[in-house]
Amino acid sequence: MPESSPSFEQVVRFRRSVRKYLDRPVEPEKWEALEMAAVRAAEALDLQSVKFVFIRNPENKRKFALAAFSGIAGKINPWLLTTKAQGFIVLAGNERKIGDDLDNPLYLAEAAMAMEAVILQAAELGLGTCWMGAFGERKLNKVLKLPEGIRIVAISPVGYPPQAGPRLDWDTFTRQAVSKSRKPLDQIHRFMDEDR
Ligand SMILES: Cc1cc2nc3c(=O)[nH]c(=O)nc-3n(C[C@H](O)[C@H](O)[C@H](O)COP(=O)(O)O)c2cc1C
Repeated sequence: MPESSPSFEQVVRFRRSVRKYLDRPVEPEKWEALEMAAVRAAEALDLQSVKFVFIRNPENKRKFALAAFSGIAGKINPWLLTTKAQGFIVLAGNERKIGDDLDNPLYLAEAAMAMEAVILQAAELGLGTCWMGAFGERKLNKVLKLPEGIRIVAISPVGYPPQAGPRLDWDTFTRQAVSKSRKPLDQIHRFMDEDR
């Protein structure tokens, strides 16, 4: 990512999932910018289904990481236990509020839009994040004291990534295995008005 004022295209192009963080505090105004990105994301029908939680206090971070690592799904993310991330973001939605009468689970889309807005805002500010869909939901619900019907859609650490360079870690592995093997355009997209 270019150091100063990356364009939107550069933010989207150069953002990468970050699982290794520097032990460097994130400035309060940057936290605030992330909060505002979540607040400003689109919502269907103005029902205010999206809930987001920021976790920054060291003791709460520790409890949160342990809960996220719980269960079978949580074990996908062992790096959580030793992370130096400065905090976590949780995006959740109310599945009952707008999911009952529709096959399309809108709360998922709402929370996902808010998380993507936060992730791109973080990238613009030079911060790292990692969209995480694998976590111990039951324990996280307890730690976060979420009310009935609120489902966690995604969580992410937040912090400063290390300088780019060769390293043997999860980030290097996933960049080789996933980021560099994106399918070409013609395999994932077609024009409705073109015969193919
Ligand atoms: C829906 C979803 C769930 C994901 N869950 C996890 C996760 O639990 N743990 C993790 O380390 N990465 C997770 N990722 C991040 C992907 O592994 C990552 O996007 C992929 O490695 C490509 O890397 P990039 O984001 O740097 O391009 C998830 C991504 C998505 C879109």
